[in-house]
Amino acid sequence: MNLYKSLDGWDSEKSLVCRHIEQHRQGLLKDKTVINKIDFGAGSRSLKPKQQSISWQTNNSACPSSLGKVLFNITNLFNEAKILELGTHFGIGTAYLASSESTKTITSIEACKNTFAIAEKFLLSQTYSDKISLINSTFYESLEKLNNNTNKFNLFYIDGDHKGKSLINYFTICKEHLSSEKSIFVIDDINWSKDMFSAWNKLCNEYNSCSINAGRFGILLFDNTLPSVRLMLKFSKPLI
Ligand SMILES: C[S@@+](CC[C@H](N)C(=O)[O-])C[C@H]1O[C@@H](n2cnc3c(N)ncnc32)[C@H](O)[C@@H]1O
Repeated sequence: MNLYKSLDGWDSEKSLVCRHIEQHRQGLLKDKTVINKIDFGAGSRSLKPKQQSISWQTNNSACPSSLGKVLFNITNLFNEAKILELGTHFGIGTAYLASSESTKTITSIEACKNTFAIAEKFLLSQTYSDKISLINSTFYESLEKLNNNTNKFNLFYIDGDHKGKSLINYFTICKEHLSSEKSIFVIDDINWSKDMFSAWNKLCNEYNSCSINAGRFGILLFDNTLPSVRLMLKFSKPLI
């Protein structure tokens, strides 16, 4: 498998499939409405809501289109991707993942109810909405409630609460929900802090699977056919 080509390749057909997502982003970027954001993640010292415009939040927290394209491409490494996303935000990453024909189901978790409402309105009006289950709760609460026997996933996108200790904990819990075939973890913001980077390294060392450090994000591949190597990947355009 040419992993680089599989992850970085893009064409006009895929652009067309994903055009509605970038239109959604453009709408959000123009929206100066201020909403109360309750941050349950690394940026929070208290659960007091912060007043932030939708535009500001889109700029600062939504995944860039470059990462969205990689997420879309990763789903095509599966016949049927069954995805768990931690951190829905406004649904941009969720939409890239759900738009792919290879995606069978996607469950996405977001605790901030105002952020969740924006994602829900967008995602549930799409043709692929029947693949999507949205959960408005914290990661820990939601993960605890997922039934181990019925909720098996092969693709995990961990993108919220960027603290090293939290990452290790979420990763450990997610592993209980692994389906038996090959599976992939995408972890965003591995370079967000020293703490996040050392947690990423710890996961790579501990699990000794094939890992890819793509700068902004990391990918861990659990697939017996792949060697236990640590790769660095440089994309044709930098991911910001
Ligand atoms: C970086 S954004 C996610 C971006 C999104 N995945 C995308 O691709 O566009 C992180 C989101 O995770 C949510 N979050 C952070 N910590 C959380 C927690 N402990 N439980 C639930 N949601 C959380 C935040 O409210 C925020 O909306």
